[in-house]
Amino acid sequence: MKLRKLAYYFVAASLMPLSLASCGGQKGGDAEMNAFVDELMSKMTLEEKLGQLNLPASDDITTGQAKSSNIGTMVAEGKVGGVFNIKGVEKIRDLQRVAVEESRLGIPLLFGMDVVHGYETVFPIPLGLSCTWDMEAVETSARIAAREASSAGICWTFSPMVDICRDPRWGRASEGSGEDPFLGAAVARAMVKGYQGDDNFKSNDEIMACVKHFALYGAPEGGRDYNTVDMSRQRMFNEYFAPYKAGAEAGAGSFMTSFNTIDGIPATANKWLLTDVLRGMWGFDGFVVTDYTAILEMIDHGMGDLQQVSALALKAGTDMDMVADGFNGTLAQSLEEGKVNLGQIDAAVRRILEAKYKLGLFEDPYKYIDPSRGEKEIYSQANLEEARRIATESFVLLKNDNNVLPLQKKGKIALIGPLANTAANMPGTWSVAANFERYKTLYDAFKEAVGDEAEVLYAKGSNLEADPELEAYATMFGREMRDPRSEKELLDEALRVAARADVIVAALGESSEYSGESSSRTIITLPETQHKLLEALLATGKPVVMLNFAGRPTVMTWEAEHVPAILNVWFGGSEAGDAIADVVFGKVSPSGKLTMTMPRSVGQVPIYYNHFNTGRPKADDSKFEKFRSGYIDSPNAPLYPFGYGLSYTTFDYSDFTLSADEMTEDGSITASVVVTNNGKYDADEIVQLYLRDMVGSSVRPVKELKGFQRISLRAGESRKVEFEITPELLKFYNYELEFVCEPGEFLAMVGPDSERLSVLPFTLK
Ligand code: BGC
Repeated sequence: MKLRKLAYYFVAASLMPLSLASCGGQKGGDAEMNAFVDELMSKMTLEEKLGQLNLPASDDITTGQAKSSNIGTMVAEGKVGGVFNIKGVEKIRDLQRVAVEESRLGIPLLFGMDVVHGYETVFPIPLGLSCTWDMEAVETSARIAAREASSAGICWTFSPMVDICRDPRWGRASEGSGEDPFLGAAVARAMVKGYQGDDNFKSNDEIMACVKHFALYGAPEGGRDYNTVDMSRQRMFNEYFAPYKAGAEAGAGSFMTSFNTIDGIPATANKWLLTDVLRGMWGFDGFVVTDYTAILEMIDHGMGDLQQVSALALKAGTDMDMVADGFNGTLAQSLEEGKVNLGQIDAAVRRILEAKYKLGLFEDPYKYIDPSRGEKEIYSQANLEEARRIATESFVLLKNDNNVLPLQKKGKIALIGPLANTAANMPGTWSVAANFERYKTLYDAFKEAVGDEAEVLYAKGSNLEADPELEAYATMFGREMRDPRSEKELLDEALRVAARADVIVAALGESSEYSGESSSRTIITLPETQHKLLEALLATGKPVVMLNFAGRPTVMTWEAEHVPAILNVWFGGSEAGDAIADVVFGKVSPSGKLTMTMPRSVGQVPIYYNHFNTGRPKADDSKFEKFRSGYIDSPNAPLYPFGYGLSYTTFDYSDFTLSADEMTEDGSITASVVVTNNGKYDADEIVQLYLRDMVGSSVRPVKELKGFQRISLRAGESRKVEFEITPELLKFYNYELEFVCEPGEFLAMVGPDSERLSVLPFTLK
């Protein structure tokens, strides 16, 4: 390692500005960085500059082959700025060595990866993580992910994914924090802080975040992935932009463009978005990378040929081209033809070099490449304990009639279902660095949890889907789970096992890859074959607990009526098995609350709590009324609202008060409520504050989340919870897109979810 470093300095020293060779590129302030980048850029050929803008696919190179691979050759020629999704510190070291020792200027590479919810220690999918409403936990998960990934050579993660989503058909609902901009912004801040640390990349476990997908990717028409997005600017600013803005303000080093169009222009070529909003309004000073082949895809969008779309992307404010080979392949010609200018290319190159400088890669290109770190950092006992604890916080108890849950460890427990015995399907989508062999199945976790106090019986019961083709689509990337037996054989076996049991736990739902990228669904109920199994299990008359594995809010209207207990477990990560056992057997009381509304039927989608009133409103849970805004065949109310989730204990809310019923634009008032745990279990509760602006210059939502606190209360304990309501919280983007608060009447609402709320009015003077 040391030798290589010396060799690097030796080869490159003559080309390096003195400041770098003597005192290190990372140390100084902006002036020092600028001088360093200026000098480096003055030595770069156009080809080398365009190389910095190039982020090709790596095809995961194996050790020793870096030089002979196509990527290795390109790196040696200075035609690559970074590579991504290579797992293994040795492979990364090989490639970095080629960059710093064999390319003319020795500019180090960025090594990126989709470390979206953990590296080998996998945390709940982001949707599940958001249901913790626990920002410390969110930050911890990102911190651990950064520590693990950086010890494997990664210095840049394509996370956080902060796209607001109101449509559970969209498979990537799993990757974001749900439907609410206030909560989404808090999560974005916590994730950026967790990845990047407090230290400005001083330490080699602080990696660069990439806020994605900018922008509005979570609102595709029909919930179909990559589809068109079109919405008013007021809606963008008020309902979708907050998490991106929060990510930028938290100092995220990079942003990723989205695949969709915005106002008829693909995000990757949308100057208003990338330059006016992101840099101009929000002051973002990092770099912008495209999503995978997004430049190339603009040909299909109908924006021109590769040369044209590449020029459009650059001029809009895109700095780095992921995989499309548009910048590398065409910008030289565009420059010659006057379709772009050198200033535009230089601005992008500068931003990439600045990122490398800020990460400290010029000072030490091997900073993140320390093979001795991995063994103690990756999947350490401490990390997996955190992952287990955090996963328990993400589960949402939807129903628990007669306190079926928690189960006692006694007698015979039948664990039945396609998700019961598959370790590979516990982590959820986007777990590229996961190591399935190290994870436990739910079945193993249950057996371990009960020891010899009870017996756990198992049967698969059904496949994921009766149709093998459909199941193949939903179990890709080494997560196959198909059983060759017929539906009847599987069911018969399950019923034989159930007959011997005292209680049945049904592990049902989606596989890991039934959600995530390119996994949109039009039917979001339990697959028919699993539904038949569930019906048959219920017909035994034994108590049934349903564990719903899901990467999106699923429609469970039938289940909510017929199954006594439902625990929504999302995909809990590498430690999901143990975490589910902790909750099912009562070691931990469930405390997660929904961050996306659960519809009654897919026909209600898009459905979200912070909607406008219509001019013909009706009560959400009332039946059809002619000429009122509703459906003939369904109430407007969802099955379970935003913010909803039960516990093994019950919480009582009382004494809701406001410190004043008037506030001024430079004042604030305090809302307080007393929360009492009046059940038998120590447990956590998530207390929520909503506000409503009664009259506005534009229509305002019926309520908006403006505060939340996760508190722990012992059985019998009471606590006063306070929220400060400031004018800032009353602000919104008006028709002119000015961020203002307007004097008048407001409502403050406090409670355990977005429906069960105590309400008090106040006035802004
Ligand atoms: C996804 C991104 C991801 C990128 C790189 C794309 O297909 O949309 O979220 O970061 O691939 O793997």
